[in-house]
Order: sequence, then structure tokens, then C-alpha cells
Amino acid sequence: MTLTKHLYLTGFRGTGKSSVARLLAKQLGVTAIDLDEVVEQQAGISISRIFEEQGESAFRDLESTALATVAKFSPTLISLGGGAILRAENRTCIETTGTCIWLDADANTIAARLHQDETTAERRPALTTLPALQEIERLLDERRPIYEQTSQHRIATTDRSIDQVVNDILALLP
Ligand code: S3P
Repeated sequence: MTLTKHLYLTGFRGTGKSSVARLLAKQLGVTAIDLDEVVEQQAGISISRIFEEQGESAFRDLESTALATVAKFSPTLISLGGGAILRAENRTCIETTGTCIWLDADANTIAARLHQDETTAERRPALTTLPALQEIERLLDERRPIYEQTSQHRIATTDRSIDQVVNDILALLP
């Protein structure tokens, strides 16, 4: 399928963006871009190290630069980091260059998935001083309105397989 604009996947950590992007890219015959990977390539170090050595705000700067870079590529599938929608400039970039799909899940599901995911240590430093589940609950409360505002479609991923989610997305495409 030829995409006429980017297809962005947004949603909190652990909602399945990267796994869904890999399978969806195959089905669409496009190469998926993972924004976290682009940030790490451009910085030359892991996201955890960027947070540790330079702080979250420096990471957000790198994330905005990476988004502005990939947004200029030919239309493709772009999996965003869970906080990429926090900055207004990023939301404008997403809104003007693509269609955005929000993957959602409940806090317990997210906590379990993050615990099992081997990329968590390198890619997902703590964002608050709260215990893991409380951090997820707090940030989901704060971010859900922003995910909603930035996306055209919401897909629940709790208790659903990657195949099911991919099929839901394919059904939304023109
Ligand atoms: C973040 C999510 C991560 C990564 C970074 C910050 C966030 O991406 O960009 O650790 O603020 O929610 P994933 O959503 O791909 O885990």
C-alpha cells in the first residue's frame, strides 16, 4: 500500500507501539521508523544514559529534532516514544504530516508488559520518583487527554493480540 502521509502510532509505554509497528509495516510493505531508535542513533547513546547524563529536558530536545527529521521523509509508519506528544511543536508536526493512531491499555497491563520487555532497562528510565504502577497511573491521567487530542483513532490493546490490533488499524485505513 502507498501511504499518502505518515501513519504515526502514539500511546503510553507498553501499549504495543513497537510490536504493532513491526507487523503493520510488513502488511503495508513499508519500513517502520521507531523514533526512540532514531534518538539513540543520533545521540550515540541509550535513552537511559541520555536521561542519566543530560536529563529529561535534553532528551525531549533530541526527540523533537528526531521527529522533525523523520517527518520530512517520504510517508511511512512512525512509532513515537510515549512522551513525544507532550510538546506542542511535536503535536503540530504530527498533525500536519500524518494520521495518528493512539494505542491504549490499562495501567496494570502496561506495568506487566514493561516488566517483561527487555528493552525497558535501556529505553525507559523512571519519569517520576513514584513506584512503577503509581507512575503509570499518574502519567496516564495526565497524558490521556493529550493522546486523545493528537490522534484520530484510539485502539484498546488490553487483552488483545498484536494481530487483532494490526487488523483494527488496517480496517481504518482508506
Ligand atoms: C517515554 C517513552 C519511551 C522513551 C522514553 C520516554 C515517555 O518510549 O521515549 O523512555 O516519556 O513515556 P516508549 O513509549 O516507546 O517506551
